[in-house]
Amino acid sequence: MARQLWRGVVFACITFCMIISHAVAQGGDKILIIHGGAGSVRISRQFLKLCDNYSITITGTITPAHGTAKKVAMLAAIRAGYAALQTEDDAQLAVIEAIKVMEDSPAFNAGTGSVRSASGEVEMDAIIINGTDLGTGAVGAVRHIKNPITLARLVKDTSEHVFLVGYQAELFALNSNQMNLVPTSSLIANWTTSNEGWTSNHPRKQNRAGTVGAVAVNSRGQIFAGTSTGGLSGKMDGRVGDTPIVGAGTLADDEIGGISATGWGEAFIRYRVASRIAGLMEGGMNASMSISTVLSGMASRIQDADGGAIAIGKNGDIGFEWNSEQMAWAYSKGVDIHYGVDRGEDINVPLDDSVSTGSTTTESTTPTTPGGSGSVGRKGGIFFGIITAFIVTISVV
Ligand SMILES: *[C@@H]1O[C@H](CO)[C@@H](O)[C@H](O)[C@H]1NC(C)=O
Ligand SMILES: *[C@@H]1O[C@H](CO)[C@@H](O)[C@H](O)[C@H]1NC(C)=O
Ligand SMILES: *[C@@H]1O[C@H](CO)[C@@H](O)[C@H](O)[C@H]1NC(C)=O
Ligand SMILES: *[C@@H]1O[C@H](CO)[C@@H](O)[C@H](O)[C@H]1NC(C)=O
Repeated sequence: MARQLWRGVVFACITFCMIISHAVAQGGDKILIIHGGAGSVRISRQFLKLCDNYSITITGTITPAHGTAKKVAMLAAIRAGYAALQTEDDAQLAVIEAIKVMEDSPAFNAGTGSVRSASGEVEMDAIIINGTDLGTGAVGAVRHIKNPITLARLVKDTSEHVFLVGYQAELFALNSNQMNLVPTSSLIANWTTSNEGWTSNHPRKQNRAGTVGAVAVNSRGQIFAGTSTGGLSGKMDGRVGDTPIVGAGTLADDEIGGISATGWGEAFIRYRVASRIAGLMEGGMNASMSISTVLSGMASRIQDADGGAIAIGKNGDIGFEWNSEQMAWAYSKGVDIHYGVDRGEDINVPLDDSVSTGSTTTESTTPTTPGGSGSVGRKGGIFFGIITAFIVTISVV
């Protein structure tokens, strides 16, 4: 009887070890989530008054045509970013590649497609954070950079500093011999044809196309978060929003998760939005609930404060929530892509675009409440191993 018990224990141990090593080798889920800005984001009051004077109506909502343009670009961004997770298991590359696609698309207010400041200039902010060692690079109010996210990475990797701004940040880009400066005209949003002839005394309608951001985790649980923005229409020159500020618009910490926000930057800084979301997640609340709790808290303290955020918790749970009218979001865990813009919208397509053929769509719209789904990941594998070993022991004995 004792020998049988002994044999059972050995057998269970072997099974347990096999399952554990399998779970470890497989690692956690590789996840990439992005956003392409929230609708109904504020612009400067001064600019609105000026628009009133010229009977120009600016609405905060993302129009259907604009939403479609965002969706197309978000799919391309997820595919470009996820390829880096699949082949290199590199969360930083996933974030950078996804953001670059969105910066290069005029459907978003970042990089190419940025809006004009009060003087008619373009001023962009960007940040990238390594959640493992909290290494951070950020740039503010840069005017001649095609991909500010790349410059942010350069600041992180090749300077002693975290945050460079304005003209000196552009000099840093030039001196790196890795980046060129581009003319402002090549970056300005052309969402309306009436954009030409813009002056601070005679504004033209501009589409507030939205900040972009990404959070990724690789199979080893390394998290990166990045955000890039073209600022607010008609903002004061020199104004920097929440995007490049750690704990306001962006945060990454392997021990908690990664967060990227979009919205009325001034309110997001004042309320320390990303930092508060991280605090709730650290306390055990899921990503989705943490975001919505903080957004409603912000709105109760700061009048008209709106926007949204995406997040991945350290255990792989996904959150995307907003208190503005809309937010463009998309994510993938490797099999398919989920994305949407309007509340309740959750469209599902294969990650591998060769699977879906042209316009014959395999899309299915499942109206669900916005919010992520939990993930089994690494912990699930270990739990499964223990349960299996237990069952095997019982049955052998
Ligand atoms: C709007 O027009 C009024 C009256 O002409 C003028 O006093 C005001 O300064 C203008 N507002 C802006 C922001 O230019
Ligand atoms: C992030 O930080 C960790 C710890 O310092 C480091 O090993 C890793 O190479 C960094 N990742 C990148 C892409 O710089
Ligand atoms: C906007 O239009 C101008 C003039 O046609 C062009 O030079 C510029 O490249 C366009 N910008 C974008 C972002 O498409
Ligand atoms: C997050 O937590 C809330 C409250 O406990 C719950 O209602 C919601 O379903 C959870 N969401 C996910 C994605 O697990």
